[in-house]
Amino acid sequence: MFFSTVAVTLSLFGAAVSQFVSPPTNLTTTIGYADFRVRYKQVPPGICEQRADLKSYAGYVDVSPDTHIFFWFFETRNGDPTKAPLTSWINGGPGSSSMIGLFQEQGPCRVDSSGHLLNNPYAWTEASNMIFIDQPAQVGFSYSIPVPGYISPNDGSVIVLPNGICPGDNITQGTCGTYSDPNVTDTPTTTSAAAPAFWATLQGFMGAFPQYSRETFHFSTESYGGHYGPVFNEYIESQNAKAIPGAHNISLETVLIGNGWYNPLIQYQAYYNFTVYPGNTYDYAPYNDTIATEVYNNLYGTGNCVDQLNECASTGSNVVCSAADNYCADNVESIYDEVLNRDEYDIRELEPDPFPPEFYVAYLNTPIVQSAIGAFQNYTEYSAAVGDAFNTTGDDGREDGTVADMLELLEQDITVMMYTGDADYNCNWLGGEVVSNEVGQPGFNCSGYTNISTSDGIVHGQVKQSGAFSFEVPFYQPEIALAIFERAIAGLDIATGLVNVTSGYRTVGPPTSDYREGNDTVQFEVVNTNTTYNTTTNEPNPPSEKGRLAKRRGEQSHYGKVLKPVKPMSRA
Ligand SMILES: *[C@@H]1O[C@H](CO)[C@@H](O)[C@H](O)[C@H]1NC(C)=O
Ligand SMILES: *[C@@H]1O[C@H](CO)[C@@H](O)[C@H](O)[C@H]1NC(C)=O
Ligand SMILES: *[C@@H]1O[C@H](CO)[C@@H](O)[C@H](O)[C@H]1NC(C)=O
Ligand SMILES: *[C@@H]1O[C@H](CO)[C@@H](O)[C@H](O)[C@H]1NC(C)=O
Ligand SMILES: *[C@@H]1O[C@H](CO)[C@@H](O)[C@H](O)[C@H]1NC(C)=O
Ligand SMILES: *[C@@H]1O[C@H](CO)[C@@H](O)[C@H](O)[C@H]1NC(C)=O
Ligand SMILES: *[C@@H]1O[C@H](CO)[C@@H](O)[C@H](O)[C@H]1NC(C)=O
Ligand SMILES: *[C@@H]1O[C@H](CO)[C@@H](O)[C@H](O)[C@H]1NC(C)=O
Ligand SMILES: *[C@@H]1O[C@H](CO)[C@@H](O)[C@H](O)[C@H]1NC(C)=O
Ligand SMILES: *[C@@H]1O[C@H](CO)[C@@H](O)[C@H](O)[C@H]1NC(C)=O
Ligand SMILES: *[C@@H]1O[C@H](CO)[C@@H](O)[C@H](O)[C@H]1NC(C)=O
Ligand SMILES: *[C@@H]1O[C@H](CO)[C@@H](O)[C@H](O)[C@H]1NC(C)=O
Repeated sequence: MFFSTVAVTLSLFGAAVSQFVSPPTNLTTTIGYADFRVRYKQVPPGICEQRADLKSYAGYVDVSPDTHIFFWFFETRNGDPTKAPLTSWINGGPGSSSMIGLFQEQGPCRVDSSGHLLNNPYAWTEASNMIFIDQPAQVGFSYSIPVPGYISPNDGSVIVLPNGICPGDNITQGTCGTYSDPNVTDTPTTTSAAAPAFWATLQGFMGAFPQYSRETFHFSTESYGGHYGPVFNEYIESQNAKAIPGAHNISLETVLIGNGWYNPLIQYQAYYNFTVYPGNTYDYAPYNDTIATEVYNNLYGTGNCVDQLNECASTGSNVVCSAADNYCADNVESIYDEVLNRDEYDIRELEPDPFPPEFYVAYLNTPIVQSAIGAFQNYTEYSAAVGDAFNTTGDDGREDGTVADMLELLEQDITVMMYTGDADYNCNWLGGEVVSNEVGQPGFNCSGYTNISTSDGIVHGQVKQSGAFSFEVPFYQPEIALAIFERAIAGLDIATGLVNVTSGYRTVGPPTSDYREGNDTVQFEVVNTNTTYNTTTNEPNPPSEKGRLAKRRGEQSHYGKVLKPVKPMSRA
């Protein structure tokens, strides 16, 4: 009896250990600036960056007893890393992990369908040291209180396994692991409330690694970063001004925001503009008149989206703002998903969209990688607890001072670049353009759009710039993304990279972008998961002849497919 109990216990424990994350060993602990404790590891080459001569570090800044913010740092590939600029990257959500930016966008590596690591020749480390930060607590590898749990198949939330045993049934579906206790009290509920932990993370990192922190500092983000970017950086400036003993002055030079979610009142309206009138650069008008009228009414009808957002702005009430944001998301934004089943981040692709590939998620959940980066919990791309926490205040439906903060940053001589890929519906460029005009940078309204030139001689986008403020409409392209990043952090003009920008600098051209992509790359078939993306043809590689619009003219379209995706509302 006794022995059999022990045997059962041991075998369950054995099974459990393999599913959960063993706390990392051999972490180096140090105290950063402003007394924030940092625990980190040097990440061996081949875990992400392949070059053995470049250093990479990952670990945590302990911001408070239940707030442990994960960072992953990479030295620049060009020049002396101890003299190079430092750039931070955060993704949006709220709740999205910055490993999305690292592994799917501009980090040094990618993961292919076989789980193999690939080099990214267009990594932003070509131009800067980079630090990727998972925030707020509970996002990605950042943790509050690690607990055994699994991911709910219904809404992606973490469900705690009270006895620490994974039943391995069809509900847990292989998702058992170590996750943050999904308690919304352990994470901020607004953008402003998230700012201090971000500042603390920079203080910790810069103190632990002063060799990377002597020079200028640049901030980059996307999507919900349209909220985070202006607010966090204004917070950094206000902390600098306080001259806190032991804290480091963070000499912010550049704020870069890709496809940002700045102002819900403008950007919910932009869903109509992008799909109906004046339309997108892909000449793709996906709605019939019935649907177009429905979207219009849900926006402008009495008591509907615009009225509710205005009420949110005037009352500031959590209940009103949360209800307004949910109304607009469900009745304006999501009609696109329900009617078209297209990727909100790329109007050209149907769901499930294989781009950008998700293979990195499994890679980050392997014991070898977790041990190499010192992870304390399993990896998820999105934290439903953080999404829920922000939903309680309707932060997504608030403007939160983002536009005014951008002007304040510009007035402090900080470069601000808003860039927007034109295939994104979620935070589309039409809305971003209206926001850019509202910032009020002197001279911006009399600047015009001009082509952006890159070394390949192909025009990938256009820019409107006045002084250190620019708004670009490039397409989701690694080469131009790296080029405009390099130009922005060097204080050069975005269009050519040949001119040192002064306050009098203006681009010349039409007041609105006339760039057209045409609808040849719009896909009408779901693309296979393992397909790669060709950045020359802007299509799946090799092109799926069947999927191309050109071959589908006159054939039945995908209208009428009503499928409510189990995808949390998020601006990744
Ligand atoms: C522990 O870390 C130190 C310093 O980073 C390193 O030299 C050593 O090889 C590590 N030991 C193990 C067992 O990983
Ligand atoms: C994708 O590639 C992997 C590894 O090469 C293979 O195991 C899998 O079956 C492929 N999936 C599809 C849908 O082709
Ligand atoms: C899970 O399995 C049970 C029986 O083993 C079955 O009744 C149930 O329908 C399954 N649920 C799902 C979601 O597959
Ligand atoms: C969440 O955390 C708070 C503060 O630590 C605690 O009072 C509360 O009981 C927790 N809620 C749950 C559901 O665990
Ligand atoms: C810190 O930065 C602020 C601007 O953010 C500047 O006004 C102040 O002079 C700086 N302080 C020091 C000690 O460099
Ligand atoms: C939408 O289009 C209308 C009419 O052209 C325009 O007044 C408005 O500024 C546009 N708004 C956005 C967000 O694109
Ligand atoms: C594709 O674009 C052409 C104009 O370039 C337009 O006439 C046609 O309706 C578009 N097709 C679709 C499905 O939007
Ligand atoms: C957000 O809160 C509202 C209540 O305001 C609720 O109806 C909705 O389901 C919540 N949405 C999410 C995604 O949690
Ligand atoms: C969680 O991490 C452990 C240890 O790396 C791993 O064995 C397990 O498969 C991971 N769980 C998930 C759901 O990825
Ligand atoms: C920009 O200015 C710096 C010094 O301020 C100078 O070294 C550099 O050559 C200038 N670059 C261009 C393109 O004019
Ligand atoms: C992308 O497409 C171009 C033009 O069709 C082709 O030459 C090139 O080989 C493709 N790239 C890859 C990686 O297959
Ligand atoms: C318009 O599109 C919707 C959604 O696909 C469809 O249900 C409806 O039948 C269409 N209406 C007309 C008049 O074609």
